[in-house]
Amino acid sequence: MNNIILIGFMGTGKTTVGKALAQRLGRPYLDLDQYIVEREQRSIPTIFSEEGETYFRQVEAALLLESLQPGGRVITTGGGVVLRPDNVAAMKSGGWVIALKASPDEIIRRVSSDSQRPLLAGDAAERVHRLLAERDGMYDFAPLQIDTTGRHVQEIVDEIMRKMVEQTDFRRD
Ligand code: S3P
Repeated sequence: MNNIILIGFMGTGKTTVGKALAQRLGRPYLDLDQYIVEREQRSIPTIFSEEGETYFRQVEAALLLESLQPGGRVITTGGGVVLRPDNVAAMKSGGWVIALKASPDEIIRRVSSDSQRPLLAGDAAERVHRLLAERDGMYDFAPLQIDTTGRHVQEIVDEIMRKMVEQTDFRRD
Protein backbone atom coordinates (compact mmCIF):
# COMPACT_ATOMS: atom_id res chain seq x y z
CA MET A 1 0.00 0.00 0.00
CA ASN A 2 1.08 3.52 -0.75
CA ASN A 3 2.05 5.88 2.05
CA ILE A 4 -0.14 8.92 2.68
CA ILE A 5 1.96 12.00 3.45
CA LEU A 6 0.55 15.14 5.06
CA ILE A 7 2.42 18.37 4.41
CA GLY A 8 1.60 21.98 5.28
CA PHE A 9 2.73 25.01 7.19
CA MET A 10 3.02 24.87 11.01
CA GLY A 11 -0.38 24.95 12.70
CA THR A 12 -2.38 23.69 9.73
CA GLY A 13 -3.44 20.60 11.71
CA LYS A 14 -1.19 17.91 10.21
CA THR A 15 -0.65 15.93 13.42
CA THR A 16 -4.26 16.02 14.62
CA VAL A 17 -5.63 15.15 11.18
CA GLY A 18 -2.92 12.57 10.49
CA LYS A 19 -3.60 10.63 13.68
CA ALA A 20 -7.36 10.63 13.03
CA LEU A 21 -6.87 9.63 9.38
CA ALA A 22 -4.55 6.75 10.33
CA GLN A 23 -7.10 5.55 12.86
CA ARG A 24 -9.95 5.75 10.36
CA LEU A 25 -7.96 3.85 7.72
CA GLY A 26 -6.44 1.38 10.19
CA ARG A 27 -2.96 2.27 8.96
CA PRO A 28 0.27 2.78 10.95
CA TYR A 29 1.00 6.39 11.84
CA LEU A 30 4.41 8.09 11.83
CA ASP A 31 5.10 11.71 12.79
CA LEU A 32 8.42 12.82 11.32
CA ASP A 33 9.10 15.46 14.02
CA GLN A 34 8.44 12.86 16.73
CA TYR A 35 10.70 10.37 14.94
CA ILE A 36 13.48 13.00 14.84
CA VAL A 37 13.06 13.65 18.58
CA GLU A 38 13.23 9.91 19.35
CA ARG A 39 16.28 9.30 17.18
CA GLU A 40 18.10 12.39 18.43
CA GLN A 41 17.03 11.89 22.05
CA ARG A 42 16.38 15.62 22.41
CA SER A 43 13.60 18.09 21.66
CA ILE A 44 13.33 20.08 18.43
CA PRO A 45 14.13 23.41 20.17
CA THR A 46 17.21 21.73 21.70
CA ILE A 47 18.37 20.39 18.32
CA PHE A 48 17.98 23.88 16.83
CA SER A 49 19.82 25.59 19.67
CA GLU A 50 22.62 23.03 20.03
CA GLU A 51 23.20 22.20 16.34
CA GLY A 52 21.44 24.83 14.23
CA GLU A 53 18.78 24.60 11.54
CA THR A 54 21.07 23.11 8.85
CA TYR A 55 21.77 20.07 11.01
CA PHE A 56 18.03 19.70 11.77
CA ARG A 57 17.27 19.78 8.02
CA GLN A 58 19.89 17.07 7.37
CA VAL A 59 18.37 14.77 9.99
CA GLU A 60 14.87 15.59 8.73
CA ALA A 61 15.85 14.67 5.15
CA ALA A 62 17.52 11.40 6.19
CA LEU A 63 14.63 10.28 8.40
CA LEU A 64 12.08 11.32 5.77
CA LEU A 65 13.71 8.87 3.36
CA GLU A 66 13.56 6.14 6.01
CA SER A 67 9.91 6.77 6.80
CA LEU A 68 8.97 6.75 3.09
CA GLN A 69 9.88 3.08 2.74
CA PRO A 70 6.83 1.14 1.56
CA GLY A 71 4.54 0.46 4.50
CA GLY A 72 1.18 2.07 3.83
CA ARG A 73 1.75 4.53 6.65
CA VAL A 74 0.11 7.85 7.30
CA ILE A 75 3.13 10.16 7.68
CA THR A 76 2.95 13.70 9.04
CA THR A 77 5.85 16.03 8.34
CA GLY A 78 7.24 19.28 9.73
CA GLY A 79 6.28 22.45 7.87
CA GLY A 80 9.83 22.96 6.57
CA VAL A 81 10.14 19.58 4.86
CA VAL A 82 9.30 21.22 1.52
CA LEU A 83 12.37 23.49 1.66
CA ARG A 84 14.61 20.83 0.08
CA PRO A 85 13.77 19.88 -3.51
CA ASP A 86 15.12 16.36 -2.83
CA ASN A 87 12.53 15.93 -0.07
CA VAL A 88 9.76 17.04 -2.44
CA ALA A 89 10.90 14.55 -5.09
CA ALA A 90 11.09 11.76 -2.49
CA MET A 91 7.59 12.53 -1.20
CA LYS A 92 6.13 12.64 -4.72
CA SER A 93 7.46 9.19 -5.47
CA GLY A 94 7.03 7.79 -1.95
CA GLY A 95 3.29 8.18 -1.53
CA TRP A 96 0.18 10.30 -1.95
CA VAL A 97 0.78 13.82 -0.77
CA ILE A 98 -1.97 15.87 0.86
CA ALA A 99 -1.42 19.54 1.74
CA LEU A 100 -3.28 21.09 4.64
CA LYS A 101 -3.84 24.84 4.66
CA ALA A 102 -5.26 27.35 7.13
CA SER A 103 -5.66 31.11 7.23
CA PRO A 104 -2.77 33.10 8.76
CA ASP A 105 -4.98 34.20 11.68
CA GLU A 106 -5.98 30.63 12.45
CA ILE A 107 -2.34 29.48 12.22
CA ILE A 108 -1.28 32.21 14.64
CA ARG A 109 -4.09 31.24 17.05
CA ARG A 110 -3.10 27.57 16.93
CA VAL A 111 0.66 28.07 17.37
CA SER A 112 0.69 30.88 19.90
CA SER A 113 0.30 28.65 22.97
CA ASP A 114 3.15 26.34 21.90
CA SER A 115 6.82 26.86 22.73
CA GLN A 116 8.07 23.85 20.73
CA ARG A 117 8.59 25.72 17.44
CA PRO A 118 11.97 27.45 17.43
CA LEU A 119 11.30 29.28 14.16
CA LEU A 120 8.37 31.10 15.80
CA ALA A 121 10.19 32.21 18.96
CA GLY A 122 9.70 35.91 19.72
CA ASP A 123 6.93 37.63 17.79
CA ALA A 124 5.08 34.55 16.52
CA ALA A 125 2.59 36.51 14.40
CA GLU A 126 5.34 38.42 12.58
CA ARG A 127 7.29 35.20 11.99
CA VAL A 128 4.26 33.32 10.71
CA HIS A 129 3.59 36.07 8.15
CA ARG A 130 7.23 36.19 7.07
CA LEU A 131 7.62 32.41 6.74
CA LEU A 132 4.28 32.08 4.93
CA ALA A 133 5.54 34.62 2.38
CA GLU A 134 8.90 32.85 2.05
CA ARG A 135 7.21 29.49 1.52
CA ASP A 136 4.46 30.75 -0.75
CA GLY A 137 3.59 28.05 -3.32
CA MET A 138 5.90 25.43 -1.84
CA TYR A 139 3.06 23.18 -0.69
CA ASP A 140 1.16 23.46 -3.99
CA PHE A 141 2.68 20.35 -5.59
CA ALA A 142 0.31 18.15 -3.57
CA PRO A 143 -2.61 17.00 -5.73
CA LEU A 144 -4.96 17.28 -2.76
CA GLN A 145 -5.27 20.64 -0.95
CA ILE A 146 -7.48 20.80 2.13
CA ASP A 147 -8.39 23.95 4.09
CA THR A 148 -8.68 23.21 7.82
CA THR A 149 -9.66 26.73 8.92
CA GLY A 150 -12.50 26.62 11.49
CA ARG A 151 -13.22 22.95 10.82
CA HIS A 152 -13.52 19.94 13.07
CA VAL A 153 -11.01 17.12 12.61
CA GLN A 154 -13.61 14.47 11.71
CA GLU A 155 -15.06 16.73 9.01
CA ILE A 156 -11.57 17.12 7.50
CA VAL A 157 -10.96 13.35 7.62
CA ASP A 158 -14.32 12.81 5.90
CA GLU A 159 -13.30 15.22 3.12
CA ILE A 160 -9.94 13.47 2.67
CA MET A 161 -11.64 10.05 2.50
CA ARG A 162 -14.12 11.36 -0.10
CA LYS A 163 -11.41 12.99 -2.23
CA MET A 164 -9.19 9.91 -2.05
CA VAL A 165 -11.96 7.86 -3.61
CA GLU A 166 -12.55 10.48 -6.32
CA GLN A 167 -8.92 10.86 -7.37
CA THR A 168 -7.58 8.34 -9.85
CA ASP A 169 -4.13 8.61 -8.28
CA PHE A 170 -5.48 7.59 -4.91
CA ARG A 171 -7.38 4.63 -6.30
CA ARG A 172 -4.37 2.83 -7.73
CA ASP A 173 -3.83 0.84 -4.54
C1 S3P B 1 9.21 23.59 11.17
C2 S3P B 1 8.03 23.00 11.56
C3 S3P B 1 7.93 22.14 12.75
C4 S3P B 1 9.27 21.48 13.04
C5 S3P B 1 10.34 22.53 13.15
C6 S3P B 1 10.50 23.36 11.88
C7 S3P B 1 9.21 24.48 9.97
O1 S3P B 1 6.93 21.14 12.54
O2 S3P B 1 9.61 20.54 12.05
O3 S3P B 1 10.03 23.35 14.24
O4 S3P B 1 10.30 24.82 9.47
O5 S3P B 1 8.12 24.83 9.48
P1 S3P B 1 5.34 21.48 12.52
O6 S3P B 1 4.97 21.93 11.14
O7 S3P B 1 4.72 20.15 12.85
O8 S3P B 1 5.08 22.50 13.56
